[in-house]
Amino acid sequence: KRAITAAKPLLHWYDRHRRALPWRALPGETPDPYRVWLSEVMLQQTTVATVRPRFATWVARWPSFADLAAADEADVMAAWAGLGYYARARNLLAAARAIAAKHGGQLPDTEEALRALPGFGDYTAAAVAAIAFGRRAVVVDANVERVVARLFAIDAPLPGGRRAIRAAAATITPEKRAGDYAQAMMDLGSAVCTSRKPRCLLCPLADQCGALALGTPEAFPVKKPK
Ligand code: ADE
Repeated sequence: KRAITAAKPLLHWYDRHRRALPWRALPGETPDPYRVWLSEVMLQQTTVATVRPRFATWVARWPSFADLAAADEADVMAAWAGLGYYARARNLLAAARAIAAKHGGQLPDTEEALRALPGFGDYTAAAVAAIAFGRRAVVVDANVERVVARLFAIDAPLPGGRRAIRAAAATITPEKRAGDYAQAMMDLGSAVCTSRKPRCLLCPLADQCGALALGTPEAFPVKKPK
């Protein structure tokens, strides 16, 4: 059995299909860590379509960590209205203040240091390290989980199967273009490797996909019967 090599075909696909999103740097530009961080937090339980306009008004009002750190908590909570999970907004403000007080107004640039900040869990620390700082990090959200479970035909049911999915994801995560790779996996999961009716004919990884070879891509990731 040949090893799966996802990064090269996936990045090639991303170069042709990258979505322009307001927090994404254009090719060749340096991403703004503040915008990357804010977008990742907003996108955690909220769709891209909902986040887009909210992101725009937020960065117009508080364009940097320093601006946000100086904001009133009541204003921040009001600006978060409708995005849900208000702990995220409280943590945003706490993190902005910690960054201003302890990190000279700049986000630390490693996954480990990021994880020490309020609101940074496994996902956020990995996503920001990869997208804002180009660090190799294993970035796994629900979309990526589905892509990897299918590619490797991982049949251990969720939630326990997440360990195997993460381990498999680590084997295909490249050192180079870490941020593009992470976002390419997310885009592939949301646009092509969808939970229902995946568009396997459009998938740059179809020829390597274990679930497609079995003929049952929709069966992955396997979920524990309720
Ligand atoms: N969902 C979470 N983060 C994302 C990103 N950077 N691009 C697209 N979808 C996302």
